Amino acid sequence: MIGISESQNLRIPEHIAIIMDGNGRWAQRHGFSRTAGHKKGAEALQRLVRLVSETGVRYLTVFGFSSENWSRPEAEVKELMKLLRYYLRSETAELHKSNIRLRVIGDRSAFDADIVQLIHNAEKLTAGNKGITVIMALNYGGKFDIAQAARRLAAQAVETGFVPSTQEVLHQFDAHLMTSGVPDPDLLIRTSGEQRISNFLLWQCAYAEFFFTETLWPDFDRSDLDEALSAYARRERRFGAVLRSSSEG
Ligand code: FPP
Repeated sequence: MIGISESQNLRIPEHIAIIMDGNGRWAQRHGFSRTAGHKKGAEALQRLVRLVSETGVRYLTVFGFSSENWSRPEAEVKELMKLLRYYLRSETAELHKSNIRLRVIGDRSAFDADIVQLIHNAEKLTAGNKGITVIMALNYGGKFDIAQAARRLAAQAVETGFVPSTQEVLHQFDAHLMTSGVPDPDLLIRTSGEQRISNFLLWQCAYAEFFFTETLWPDFDRSDLDEALSAYARRERRFGAVLRSSSEG
């Protein structure tokens, strides 16, 4: 069977963002520990990167660890860090072989030094790759991202003594966000039935199409991706404007 993600004629988003939710509930339903759920979630991520890279999508941003996730039980945070280490160690070479670029957004200063080093190495190794760019949001928060961009613009204003107009700020803002140089997400997917943005890419998702599915993240597979892509292709994107029909020219 040919999936939608393989068909040639669909309007494909340039950038997909995903909130990978439901690892814990998946584990509970299967009688496993939450750690086992996160492991399955990491496998689902590995699978998905391969699938998405075959579709023509140029950027994939995934929420791996939010700035709020530190408040989980210490043992769970420790397991997530272990998994992150394992993922970065085992996946970097694989991503590089597949011409995939890895970028990390978020405040990495809170991670252990060896994790910061692994991130740095992975970004450096894959920097020149021309395939899909995978952006992992780690210790990321949308409000923090906006605040640090505003701070940088304010610092610039103090330094130059010039306060830009609101229009100029709007124009310059993207370049100061952690996603600088990356087009805004066209499609935001959230799994597990939750319908919230949870402090993810707040500024960047201003015009994203949202797709919510009941599927728990570890179960997210090709058919879920196809469903999301075909829903996206049916949406009419107006960016706040009124679309004129072709008969109107
Ligand atoms: C939500 O599930 C998921 C996360 C907190 C993190 C996502 C992590 C992965 C997909 C594993 C791979 C990540 C790394 C860092 C390599 P949840 O625990 O909130 O699920 P629940 O809402 O059912 O409890």
